[in-house]
Amino acid sequence: MLEELGEEPTTRLLSLFSCPRNPDVENFLKQKSIAFEKTHNARTRLILDEQGSILAYFSVSFKELVLESAALNKSQVKRLDGFNKNAERIRAFLIGQLGKNFSVQNNRITLADILAEIYSIIHDARELVGGRVIILECENNPALIQLYRDHGFTLIETTDDDKTELRTMYIHIANQ
Ligand SMILES: CC(C)(COP(=O)(O)OP(=O)(O)OC[C@H]1O[C@@H](n2cnc3c(N)ncnc32)[C@H](O)[C@@H]1OP(=O)(O)O)[C@@H](O)C(=O)NCCC(=O)NCCS
Repeated sequence: MLEELGEEPTTRLLSLFSCPRNPDVENFLKQKSIAFEKTHNARTRLILDEQGSILAYFSVSFKELVLESAALNKSQVKRLDGFNKNAERIRAFLIGQLGKNFSVQNNRITLADILAEIYSIIHDARELVGGRVIILECENNPALIQLYRDHGFTLIETTDDDKTELRTMYIHIANQ
């Protein structure tokens, strides 16, 4: 879109996105996503309706997951790593941001729809470069954590849960 429309029209379109439930999600799209795109630090995709309004967006990238304070057992670590039950770091696809546009009335898009788009993109990336797991970092909010659990994600318990503002969750994308 950035290439097709150019930066100014893209910025205008992004300015119509609103996510009062999570200001970080709104701010990333409006203030950072274009810079992240240009510097190849993350890819942001918009999900548009037939009129061209943004229904939702997501950003994907990759990140090394550090297991230092993660309360995972050895079989969980081995499944994440693929080889090593003592692995300390795991390469993962990262869902950096996702959210729906609350300024669109009767916006029926759901997390399931957004995740389906994300899985499709990550499937293509995985065919090219491999990859076993997708992670996301979400607010330490029980309702949000439960929502992701309902969609198949597992919360990584840590030894410093109380102090953590962001919690990491993961989902496997490899069978073995
Ligand atoms: C995440 C999202 C796409 C899910 O959409 P959905 O499948 O249609 O589900 P809903 O919006 O009905 O949310 C389901 C429940 O999740 C919880 N929830 C969703 N986002 C939340 C947030 N940011 N903080 C706390 N709880 C949240 C709420 O309990 C909500 O129930 P409620 O409507 O009774 O408040 C959408 O809620 C959203 O855009 N949220 C704001 C952005 C966000 O927080 N993204 C996650 C970043 S990790």
